[in-house]
Amino acid sequence: MGHLTVRPGGSLRGRGRVPGDKSISHRALLLGALADGDSRISGFLPSNDCLATLACLRALGVEIETHAPTTLTIHGRGLHGLQSPGGPLNCARSGTTMRFLMGILAGQAFDSVLTGDEQLLRRPMRRVAEPLRCMGADIETTAGHGPVTVRGQRLRGCDHVLPVASAQVKSALLLAGLYADGPTTVHQPGHARDHTERMLAAMGAAIEVSGLTVSLAPSPSLSPPSNAVRTWGCSLRSLSNAVRTWGCSLHPLGIGVPGDISSASFPLVAAAILPGSEVTIEGVGVNPTRTGLLDVLRAMGAGVVLDNECEQGGEPVADVTVRASDLRGADVRGAKVVRMIDEFPVLAVAATQAYGTTVVRDAAELRVKETDRIATVVTELQKLGAYIESLADGFVVARPAPLHGAVVNSHGDHRLAMALAVAGLVAEGDVVIENADCIADSFPGFVELMRGIGADYEVGADYEVGADYD
Ligand code: S3P
Repeated sequence: MGHLTVRPGGSLRGRGRVPGDKSISHRALLLGALADGDSRISGFLPSNDCLATLACLRALGVEIETHAPTTLTIHGRGLHGLQSPGGPLNCARSGTTMRFLMGILAGQAFDSVLTGDEQLLRRPMRRVAEPLRCMGADIETTAGHGPVTVRGQRLRGCDHVLPVASAQVKSALLLAGLYADGPTTVHQPGHARDHTERMLAAMGAAIEVSGLTVSLAPSPSLSPPSNAVRTWGCSLRSLSNAVRTWGCSLHPLGIGVPGDISSASFPLVAAAILPGSEVTIEGVGVNPTRTGLLDVLRAMGAGVVLDNECEQGGEPVADVTVRASDLRGADVRGAKVVRMIDEFPVLAVAATQAYGTTVVRDAAELRVKETDRIATVVTELQKLGAYIESLADGFVVARPAPLHGAVVNSHGDHRLAMALAVAGLVAEGDVVIENADCIADSFPGFVELMRGIGADYEVGADYEVGADYD
């Protein structure tokens, strides 16, 4: 598997853009496929994970045209237009693909099987299957994991109380709710990212958010309702359509996907820890459910500035600048955790360069990401000389360390690979990251962007740049 060599260097300076947001790209594909009409998406992220969603949708009969790697037209088939895939759907390494499709496929008139790479088949799927069953779904997991068999059913609404703040579980339930004959309500224990709610609202769905509770009113079934009450729940805008066409519909999308703040976190943290650095990433999504890392970096003493704030595709966007300064340790726990759930590998790297102690708690969810990120981050950063130890629900970085060169491994986890590539910039010798081509799962162009701001990165001959469109 491909390796990446990071050579220590000087400060980082410059401006750049990161590819489109992964979470929003998945949602645009899936909801665009269910819309009545053609959706046009620009700024789409052509990463391995999003391309897995795209391939699954094509297998479900959705026509998707690619005009450029990041510009797509999705010919939506309406809520009831998907076709039986005629074979297992391959979600590759993408948990979002498998979980969201579980929600959508639960309400179809056909059966499907969802499978994927070994890494994905180790991740928990019961957390989606169980609440879907409460809606009448017929879903069989493999001892709580994939492959997952979904036998399409008529679904009923349900009131869900989520034990963990997970946007993937919330979204899967809301997607199933599009097919339910009663309201679907999700009570979350914390503010998990809300891109699904924003996009559904923009598409005319009858969705309401009140504090930590999200409710989606039902769509009527395609069969003629026995009385007008069956049409209850359509948004007012689409009610007249519902009466005319016997069914609610989702309006097509026209969106420009903002840059992914989770991808931006790598060059931004690199700028925070390399003395004399200043880096701006333009056009980054700064949805408040995603900006926990920026708050923590500020609390650690980094200079973080947002400019050109505007709205794009129903999401707040800004240019984000980070300037290096002496960092101090941070205490990250409670409500902050979900707002930066994907940024802990790179936060751990920042913490190795901060005076004082950094403590992360309430983050046991890290154990069920692409890898057990508490175990893998601790193991790999220790190889570089970091004073980091694991906790059941987080980790502690006791004090700053002069990192040294070493051979480390990504364990096939894209965010760990990139975090190690940031750590390598402050190490005193070369850091060789094995198994680094998983970076393309979320951030094609990472190496080029980092080189553009001054990083000395060399990819091995065995390094693969990622999947492409068919
Ligand atoms: C995601 C939600 C998060 C995040 C993942 C993407 C999403 O997962 O870690 O990378 O797009 O909804 P959980 O919902 O499992 O926390």
